[in-house]
Amino acid sequence: MADPVVSFDRVDVRLGGCLIQEQMTFSLQPGEYVGILGPNGAGKSTLLKLILGILEPSAGKIEGFGQEPRVGNRRIGYTPQFHSLEASLALRSRDIVGFGLDGHRWGPGWPNKLRTQKINRVLDEVGCLDLAEASFGELSGGERQRMMIAQALLSDPELLLMDEPLASLDLVHAQEIVALTDKIRRERGTTVLFVTHDVNPLLQVMDKVLYMAGAHSALGSVEEVITTEALSALYGSRVDVIRQADRVFVMGVDV
Ligand SMILES: Nc1ncnc2c1ncn2[C@@H]1O[C@H](COP(=O)(O)OP(=O)(O)OP(=O)(O)O)[C@@H](O)[C@H]1O
Ligand SMILES: [Mg+2]
Repeated sequence: MADPVVSFDRVDVRLGGCLIQEQMTFSLQPGEYVGILGPNGAGKSTLLKLILGILEPSAGKIEGFGQEPRVGNRRIGYTPQFHSLEASLALRSRDIVGFGLDGHRWGPGWPNKLRTQKINRVLDEVGCLDLAEASFGELSGGERQRMMIAQALLSDPELLLMDEPLASLDLVHAQEIVALTDKIRRERGTTVLFVTHDVNPLLQVMDKVLYMAGAHSALGSVEEVITTEALSALYGSRVDVIRQADRVFVMGVDV
């Protein structure tokens, strides 16, 4: 097996006096597409922030690319769950995407022509080149999400962390975002961590699911993890998993 992209070794996460996750141990291989599921407050966003080095574990060891996480690592792209975008709504979409270059090693001095080429390339990759000059505020939810993905791609990351990119999207647009991220994974070989509350749009593309609940987590295939037995054990109470056609429903908990 190749060296893992991310590894957690007996990691405890404590925030505001609460134990969020206990003894978290897993590793992710290059090019894997992993869905992260779990109820509100389970620690999904916290997990991404630990990998980014924004938060530190209270015990245990985390490695990204064989090193301790550090903020500003260009090998990791990130689309956060919440954007403070009010101030940005009037900006051109291409300028919002361009923020993905600033703050990295090139800084604002990145030459204009190359900068434009690079931005155009990622805009094209997410299918939004024709929206480059539109103000961000004009865009639909799905288009904004594509712009955020374009921004995250600017540093050519080997690992893409996406925190609820499907929130507020209808099924068709959710499937388009999933298909786009799968294309990025296949074409670039990027490892993808994708937080979502609905597993169904991911069923065709993901290799593994990381399920977080009740301070514990389980990593494995959908068939291994999303079962009545495994989820009841994680939640510590009865949870029913129902399969209908090619969809999976988790009943008895709010996910
Ligand atoms: N900086 C912090 N200080 C104290 N508590 C925090 C901090 N960040 C997160 N928490 C708490 O940690 C828990 C996990 O939060 P997190 O945002 O990771 O959950 P989540 O699984 O992403 O939930 P959601 O599905 O609602 O986005 C929550 O109870 C939250 O209030
Ligand atoms: Mg969250």
